[in-house]
Amino acid sequence: MARLRLENIARDFSDGRQVRRVLFPTTLELVPGQLTVLAGPSGSGKTTLLSIIGLVLRPSEGRMFLDEREVSALDDEQAASLRLQRYGFVFQQPMLIEGLTVRENVLLALGVQGQRPQREAVKKADELLTALGLAGTALVQPRMLSGGMKQRASIARALIKDPAILLCDEPTSALDAESGQVVMKILKRIAIDENRVVIVVSHDARVFPYADRLIKLENGAVVSDTTENYMAETKIKQ
Ligand SMILES: Nc1ncnc2c1ncn2[C@@H]1O[C@H](COP(=O)(O)OP(=O)(O)OP(=O)(O)O)[C@@H](O)[C@H]1O
Ligand SMILES: [Mg+2]
Repeated sequence: MARLRLENIARDFSDGRQVRRVLFPTTLELVPGQLTVLAGPSGSGKTTLLSIIGLVLRPSEGRMFLDEREVSALDDEQAASLRLQRYGFVFQQPMLIEGLTVRENVLLALGVQGQRPQREAVKKADELLTALGLAGTALVQPRMLSGGMKQRASIARALIKDPAILLCDEPTSALDAESGQVVMKILKRIAIDENRVVIVVSHDARVFPYADRLIKLENGAVVSDTTENYMAETKIKQ
């Protein structure tokens, strides 16, 4: 379990001449057990905010806390270590490695390449693949899978270390509508049933119905933040 708190987090980028503010001071609390969708038009600052949350990018101002620990001022090594322990990432492109099996791709996230993976790890990878509807694909090459299956394999890779926080940047943008729905249902289940912090960045309105909480950004500022009641979830599950 994890809880994230952002206090007046802002980010500036400089092009060498000018400093431009791309994220205005933002205060947010992000909690487990719900699917949080971060939406907004292109350039509104979604990836910037997600990167700060994911300890990939440092804020220019403000403070961020993971549980009670301040994490906004960690050095690169500390941030990397925390990221490896507590976070999983899913991107628009699944980025699986050809030449490795699906199972090996999942195990790669444990850093066991070159060694014989432990039996426990293999079991966990196969259980995850099964839970994500990929039973029987463990020994298959990624290129044999559909786009939606590849994305689900990348979710298995993100989950193998049992991260408290799962960050997804446009996870359905490269998928057809049906595969996108399957992926969103899985992400919602991971948030609710497994009690993780799950944040999905998307500009695709088709993912909004899956959100328990919808945060909208425009021009680097949060313009709305609404928590749906669980009616939406009931509708989707039916
Ligand atoms: N490394 C960088 N250097 C300079 N400017 C940047 C950098 N990263 C992002 N920006 C700028 O910050 C703004 C917000 O970018 P960001 O990638 O967060 O938007 P986004 O909402 O994720 O957009 P998209 O939907 O296109 O992915 C944009 O104007 C972008 O050009
Ligand atoms: Mg983006």
